[in-house]
Order: sequence, then C-alpha cells, then structure tokens
Amino acid sequence: MTRPCLHVFLAALFYAGAPETRAHPLMAEPVNHPLVFTFDQFYLPVDPDEHLAGGGHLLLAELNCSACHAAPDAWRPWLAPKPGPRLDGVGSRMDADMLWLFIRSPQHLKKGTQMPGLFSGAEGDEEKVEAVVEFLSASTWDAPQMPAGDAMRGRNLYHETGCVACHEPASDHRPANAPEDAELDRPGNASVPVVLADVWHQDALAAFLHQPLAFRPAGRMPDMLLTSQEAADIAAYLHLGRTQPGNALRAALQIPPQGIERGRQVFHEMRCAACHEAPGSSRVTAPSSHPMRTLRLDQGCLAERQTSGIPRYDLNDLQKRALRLALISLQAGARPDHLATPAQQTDWHMTRLNCYACHDRGHKGGPEDPRALYFTGTGSATGLPGGSAHLPPSLDQAGARLGREGLEKILLGPRAHVSSHTRMPLFGAPQVRPLVDWLLETDKGMPAR
Ligand code: HEC
Ligand code: HEC
Ligand code: HEC
Ligand code: HEC
Repeated sequence: MTRPCLHVFLAALFYAGAPETRAHPLMAEPVNHPLVFTFDQFYLPVDPDEHLAGGGHLLLAELNCSACHAAPDAWRPWLAPKPGPRLDGVGSRMDADMLWLFIRSPQHLKKGTQMPGLFSGAEGDEEKVEAVVEFLSASTWDAPQMPAGDAMRGRNLYHETGCVACHEPASDHRPANAPEDAELDRPGNASVPVVLADVWHQDALAAFLHQPLAFRPAGRMPDMLLTSQEAADIAAYLHLGRTQPGNALRAALQIPPQGIERGRQVFHEMRCAACHEAPGSSRVTAPSSHPMRTLRLDQGCLAERQTSGIPRYDLNDLQKRALRLALISLQAGARPDHLATPAQQTDWHMTRLNCYACHDRGHKGGPEDPRALYFTGTGSATGLPGGSAHLPPSLDQAGARLGREGLEKILLGPRAHVSSHTRMPLFGAPQVRPLVDWLLETDKGMPAR
C-alpha cells in the first residue's frame, strides 16, 4: 500500500484562508532533512573531510544518536544526548488525530523535524501507533488560563523580539531597519520550521511560548522572556488563518482501541523512551543499541531505507557524509583533543545552543544580513566591539568584560524582560552553566576592552 502525500493534504487544509496567511512564517520553504541550524550554517559540501567530521560530531549530539548508540567514554561529555520534549499533558496540547499523524510519520507532518520516524508501515504498525496515541492522549493537563491574544501585536513581537534569528520572517512584514523601497532578501540559511504550533491548542501554544523550557528542557528553543500577554499575542499571530483539520485517514483505518497499557509497552519497545520520559515517569532509558564503535556505516539509521523500529531521520547526503566521517574517526580511536581547549569548548557549546544566531565571537556567527534587519537596538549594546548598535553585542572577551557575576546574571537570570526590543533569551541552567565556566576560562587574562 502506498502512503498518500500527507503534507500536501495538510498544507491545503491549514492555509486555504485569507491572503495574509500566505505570507505567514508557517509557510516557510520546508527543508527535507532534520534541521540542525548550525550544521547547515557552518558546514558545506566543499569542506575538507577533517572539517566536516566536526559537523558529524555536532549531528551525533544534536540528533541524539548517543541516546541509543553509546559514545566511547572519552566522547561522552561532548556527545551527551539532549532531553526530548516532555510529553506530560500532551493530550491537552494536541488532539489524537494530530498525535497519530506525527507519531506515524513525523516528517510528513513536520518537514525538517529532528524527531525520527519509527514506523515504516510494517504489519502491526497501525495498531502500535494507535496504542501509543491512546497512551499519550490519556496524559492531560490543566493548561493555565492565558489572556486573549492580539495577532497584530503578536506579529510585531514575533519580528522584533528575536524569533526570526532562528525562524522565518513573514514576507509581509517590513522590518524597522530596512532601507526604504529596498527589496527584502529571504534568509539564505534555512529557518527552523514551526509547525507543531499550528496543531497545538492555542492556550497550550501560548503557555509554551511563555515558558518553553518547562515543555522542552533542552533549551534549543530558548525562553524569550515573554510576558503571558506577549505569549498570547504571538500565539494568536501564529494561529492566523488556522482551520482545525480532521483526519480522514485515521478514521478510514478503523483500528480498534488497543488499551493504554499496550501503548505504554509500545512506547518502550519502539525506544521512544530513549529521548522522551514517558508521561508520569521521570526516566529515559540508557543506550540500548550497538555502541558507536561497532556501527556498520551503511546500515541501520544510515542505510537508504529503514524498517520498523529503526529510526528514520531523512538525513541528506551531506549529513550522512559528516556522520560517517565522525564515526570513522571515533572508530579509529580518535579522541576529542581538537575540542579540548577552553576556546574550543566555548565554541562547541555556543554551536550546540546556537548563540551564533545572534552573536558573533572570534569572527564566527552573528545574524546573516536578511535577518539582521529585524534586530532592534538594546540599550546596553551600544559602543561594544564589533557590532552596530542595533545588533546584539559581539561576545569577544565577554568572559573578561563581564566576569562570573555578569555572565551568570545574563545567562541564568532571573531577569525582568526588557522593552520590546530583541532579547537575550534564557537557555536553561544545565545548558549554560558549563558555558559560563568556559567563557571565563577562555577569556582569562584577556584585556577587558
Ligand atoms: C531511538 C534509538 C536510536 C537512535 C536515536 C539512533 N539509532 Fe541508529 N540504530 C537503532 C537501532 C534499533 C538500529 C538497528 C540495529 C539494532 O537493532 O541495534 C540502529 C542501527 C544503526 C546503524 C547500523 C548498525 C549496524 O552495524 O548494523 C547505524 C550506522 C546507526 N544506527 C547510526 C545512527 C546514527 C548516525 C544516529 C543519529 C543520527 C542513530 N543511529 C540514532 C536505534 C537508534
Ligand atoms: C536561538 C534560536 C531560536 C529562537 C531565538 C527562537 N526559537 Fe523557536 N525554536 C527553536 C528551535 C531549535 C526549535 C525546535 C526545538 C526542539 O526541537 O525542541 C524551536 C521550536 C519552536 C516552536 C515549537 C515547534 C513547532 O513546530 O511549532 C515554536 C512554536 C517556536 N519555536 C516559536 C518561537 C517564537 C514565537 C520565538 C520568539 C518569541 C522563538 N521561537 C525563538 C529555535 C529558536
Ligand atoms: C531521537 C530522539 C527521539 C525519539 C527516539 C523519539 N522522539 Fe519524539 N520528539 C523528539 C524531538 C526532538 C521532538 C521535537 C520535534 C520538533 O519540534 O520538531 C519530538 C516531539 C514529539 C512529540 C510532540 C511533542 C509536543 O509537545 O508536541 C510527540 C508526541 C513525540 N515526540 C512522541 C514520540 C513517540 C511516541 C516516540 C516513539 C515512537 C518518539 N517520540 C521517539 C525526539 C525523539
Ligand atoms: C535571539 C538572539 C540572542 C540569542 C540566541 C543569544 N543572545 Fe545573548 N544577547 C542578545 C541581546 C539582544 C543582548 C543584549 C542584551 C541586552 O541589552 O539586554 C545579548 C547579550 C548577551 C551577553 C552580554 C554581552 C555584553 O557585552 O553585555 C552575553 C554574555 C550573551 N548575550 C551571551 C549569550 C550566549 C552565551 C548565548 C547562547 C547560549 C546567547 N547570548 C544567545 C541576544 C541573543
């Protein structure tokens, strides 16, 4: 049986609406590979193998390969997996039909997602998916009451607070810094896709935007210090033109109820628990597949096709090449020496967290021109090295300039949110604590310009 092309069907359902929805950020050009922003930004097909292997290490970490394939001991601190989204209360966030679509085939609902598919359509898969959906739907949550949102205010906030450092700007929004009459360029780097926002209920979306780290502790989507009103405004903007689609496919399959217990079992069997805590539990399972040292490089997750139970990421050729180069070096016994100096540690953490979306340091990173136009001035940014006043400051010598107290204040909070300008977000203490130490260590003894 061939699968119908779900994303076409979904796009047609969601955005049949008003003209303004066609310029909307949710209509960003989709990418067909699991998007790791800094991999796409800093690694290219022309790069020599030694450089590209570094990109492979980044993918091994950011795509959570190490959640199932144990990394060699020396590499553990670098390749530690990141926690997946919390699924507690997910039944109050999206309805069963949308959970079904996403779990059955994540890339069909959300192109560019980092969540791999685990079902290839084999005998028995439909029942398993249904069981997991039943299990997850049963986890509900009283979403906090959020204020009513104003989509027009939301549109301005979306473009001015810094979302577009990582996500797609709308083509109908003219940024404050754009020269008059000049045509706006689209960003050259792919944007992080925003799609689940559309299937989440509006209050749940607003609650997520208000406190993203409570839902997604990995901090790759940072806390932008939005008030609950601002979060509700952006949620209203992201939901412009939304229509609640049904799911004819699931109904047509007529799978009988499978029982919540069966769902819990499948959740573990299919290794969902390698990345997600099961609702009601606080445990992720240890790596349970072949260790990295023994992986055959053209098999399993790196093969052309995956059978059920083997993650399907839809990696592109460059990603596969980088992953193979990284695995070859690990298997040859290479040690992470090239990452071991304080400066390299700093760079590694900034790359994983994508601080480079907004800041440059050592002539690396900072927003590309089409995105830089959207940044609006922050009081403290003026007069610092390397930046125009409206851009976030360069992080050159940040350790020396700010000291531990200054760094902790800005990276760990609590901070009151600042005006309507581009914000310095919070990424979560477990993510930024090591970075504070490495910034201080790297910049020790540097002149605090
Ligand atoms: C959710 C668990 C999980 C994750 C995450 C995962 N894999 Fe796998 N991988 C498997 C399973 C299961 C197999 C099939 C072999 C087995 O049963 O152990 C496999 C097989 C492989 C194989 C072939 C092994 C062999 O020698 O036959 C390679 C190579 C591989 N994975 C690479 C990767 C890479 C690279 C990533 C990250 C992009 C990754 N895997 C992420 C579970 C996972
Ligand atoms: C530093 C980059 C960055 C910034 C800034 C950022 N995001 Fe995100 N965002 C991400 C990443 C990466 C993900 C995917 C995270 C994951 O896999 O958990 C994400 C996920 C999301 C999601 C959920 C996923 C989905 O499919 O809908 C929404 C909604 C979202 N972002 C909206 C926003 C809004 C609104 C802002 C501004 C207030 C913002 N983001 C700022 C990087 C960023
Ligand atoms: C290799 C890690 C990994 C594995 C294995 C994995 N997931 Fe995910 N999952 C993710 C990531 C990352 C996201 C965020 C995706 C995004 O926003 O693009 C996610 C998102 C989700 C969501 C949406 C959460 C929300 O808040 O809307 C659900 C539901 C989900 N996963 C269920 C599952 C189930 C069920 C399985 C097993 C069949 C599974 N996941 C296996 C990494 C994983
Ligand atoms: C969405 C854009 C954005 C991202 C992503 C971002 N920052 Fe910032 N950052 C800012 C802005 C804007 C300022 C100016 C702060 C202000 O005036 O409130 C700032 C200020 C700072 C400062 C103070 C610099 C100084 O000289 O005063 C430090 C340190 C810093 N950021 C570190 C980081 C680190 C580390 C990361 C990644 C974990 C990061 N930032 C990610 C926007 C961002």
